[in-house]
Amino acid sequence: MEAGRLQKNSMLGLILGGTALRRLAVLVLLALALSTYTLAENADTYKAKCSACHGANGEADTMIGRNLKLRSLASPEVQKLSDDELFVIISKGRNKMPSFDKKLSSDQIHDLVKHIRALKK
Ligand code: HEC
Repeated sequence: MEAGRLQKNSMLGLILGGTALRRLAVLVLLALALSTYTLAENADTYKAKCSACHGANGEADTMIGRNLKLRSLASPEVQKLSDDELFVIISKGRNKMPSFDKKLSSDQIHDLVKHIRALKK
């Protein structure tokens, strides 16, 4: 009787363990898919709204970028700005940099800050 119950418990443990593991695997896969998706989406926003001036990699290797003498977004000077400072620059603009707070949601601007961090080498 006692042995039977033990066996049943460990059977249950095996099944539950199995599903928990499977559930974890599914979660990990989902998280992976989601993060590549958001990364791709951030890159799309950047490409559509920013790359004309700042260049595809933030290096400002575009005609406009060279004319405006932009610093590379990957440079230490830009990377040392805080997330908040980057957020404000993108939202409000600065000198010839247009503001984006009317065109993008604050979530999208936050994502762009992340995108700029990802440009850092
Ligand atoms: C019309 C061209 C133009 C577009 C489009 C543009 N920028 Fe800029 N950006 C500028 C200019 C010019 C500056 C330099 C502003 C200054 O004089 O301080 C700048 C500066 C910046 C800075 C500060 C970098 C530094 O050197 O201190 C960040 C960060 C930035 N832009 C991010 C973005 C993002 C993100 C987007 C897209 C949402 C974007 N910019 C779109 C022209 C542009």
